[in-house]
Amino acid sequence: MDFKGKTVYQIYPKSFCDTNGDGWGDLPGIISKLDYLKELGIDYIWLNAFFPSPQKDNGYDVQDYRSIDPRYGTMDDFLQLCAEAKDRGIDIMLDMVFNHTSTEHIWFKRALAGDPKYKNYYIWKKGKPGHQPPNNWQSKFGGSAWEYVAKYDEWYLHLFDVTQADLNWENPEVRKEMADIIRYWSEKGVHGFRFDVVNLISKGSYEDDPHHFDGRQFYTDGPRVHEYLRELNERSFGRDPQHLTVGEMSSTSIENCTEYAGHASNELDMVFSFHHLKVDYKDQKKWELMPFDFMELKRIMNEWQIGMQEKNAWNALFLNNHDQPRALSRFGDDQKYPKESAKMLATLIHMMRGTPYVYQGEELGMTNAYFSSIDQYRDVESKNIYRILLSQGRSKEEILHILQARSRDNSRTPMPWNDQKNGGFTSGTPWLSLADNYEKINAKKVLKDPDSVFAHYQKLIALRKKMRIIQDGIYVPRLEENQSVFAYERRLGKESLIVINNFYGKMTEVEIPHLHQYQILLSNYKDSRAEDALQLRPYESIVLYFKGAVE
Ligand code: GLC
Ligand code: CA
Repeated sequence: MDFKGKTVYQIYPKSFCDTNGDGWGDLPGIISKLDYLKELGIDYIWLNAFFPSPQKDNGYDVQDYRSIDPRYGTMDDFLQLCAEAKDRGIDIMLDMVFNHTSTEHIWFKRALAGDPKYKNYYIWKKGKPGHQPPNNWQSKFGGSAWEYVAKYDEWYLHLFDVTQADLNWENPEVRKEMADIIRYWSEKGVHGFRFDVVNLISKGSYEDDPHHFDGRQFYTDGPRVHEYLRELNERSFGRDPQHLTVGEMSSTSIENCTEYAGHASNELDMVFSFHHLKVDYKDQKKWELMPFDFMELKRIMNEWQIGMQEKNAWNALFLNNHDQPRALSRFGDDQKYPKESAKMLATLIHMMRGTPYVYQGEELGMTNAYFSSIDQYRDVESKNIYRILLSQGRSKEEILHILQARSRDNSRTPMPWNDQKNGGFTSGTPWLSLADNYEKINAKKVLKDPDSVFAHYQKLIALRKKMRIIQDGIYVPRLEENQSVFAYERRLGKESLIVINNFYGKMTEVEIPHLHQYQILLSNYKDSRAEDALQLRPYESIVLYFKGAVE
């Protein structure tokens, strides 16, 4: 399918819109907002996991891949959502969490009950002497990645929460189950699939991590992962000419991604990678704060743009999702320049080579939640790390400060639709509080404002649809050494598109020859000028276009 002009919108169903007052967003709520999404101009909706689940990890602990958690609605609601979206030219993408299941999944329950067939769906190992786990791998949510089961005197692997048991992809029966699940949804008319942490499905050897980190080098981009993906493609979505797939790749490499998302590799259409979202991790540690390293952000994004382009592979473009704090609070200035910096960050992403993903609320300029008490948090990762850091002697204040910057709940707060109680998200008690700035930042307000962040996203999405250079142009970094400006060019035949983003709240000047011949397509200031010597104002962001021979 030709998806290069398209934009995907990510919905976190639990936090989008609640219609029955139980404090949980639901499918009828999404249906009721389709006109809003149509107005934004997006082409695809990716729905975060909505399957029956004990919700230990907000639905990424799946109990049954073939139905919908009743708290979100029914299969009929889902089919109605697909049909009504289709009427508006929008397709649906589902989230396939195939690295692990919930320990409440019937497969795991049968495994525990002693059925050898299902025991072999998961990964079990003998411990080390002295009741020690099989190796020193750490769960991504903290603590050992192994859990002991006395009945077998063995340990099962869980790279995430203890209730998320890793599936054994070496077992051909597991791989067949996975293809069957995709075909089940394809038969319901679903063409889009996002694969959760899919580069972790092939484990290599089960050695101790010699560096006492978490062991990721032994299971990331593992030995058979490309084979498994090609097989899945061939058996399921690859049979659908309209398919659109994206893989979430944890700690991956460009080399692997050029295969995962290579034009002719028959694996996936595109990939999410995360290196650019670790530029504010001190020593690679998520829970150690430091200001983001701008030069590193620029270097990594340029490197991925070029590395993927050279091999004709395709990136998914994003700064926000349900696992990341809000980019506006992280890389912009949500106090002094909220609109300017939100628009600048959007422009940076949307003019790049790849497929842009808009995470719900970024089009409103939503910020981090800034919760002030641990009781306000719901996320298993945040709660675990709170305990772990407390036990290491850190103060409550310090940990809360870290969570305000890093917790995944920052992006999971409910969508504010208006300035009424709970931002119009629910008439009941929301499962997670709203960010308390919803009276200022909400959909009703931005829809009335022609200069809103929302209006800027509309323009970016429309430009991509209209201009082949945004879809197909080659990517060339510009001003690579500049310490505060992120600039790049897209080129196609005689056309050139230049994108200039001031990443800071200070004036700065840049020199770009021939810029006076360009025409301004979009800017976040009303009176931006096209001049070779450009004075950029705080967070100023300009898209310029030229066709013909420069003089
Ligand atoms: C992915 C999901 C995240 C989840 C994890 C485990 O990273 O995006 O929300 O916690 O996988 O499934
Ligand atoms: Ca509800």
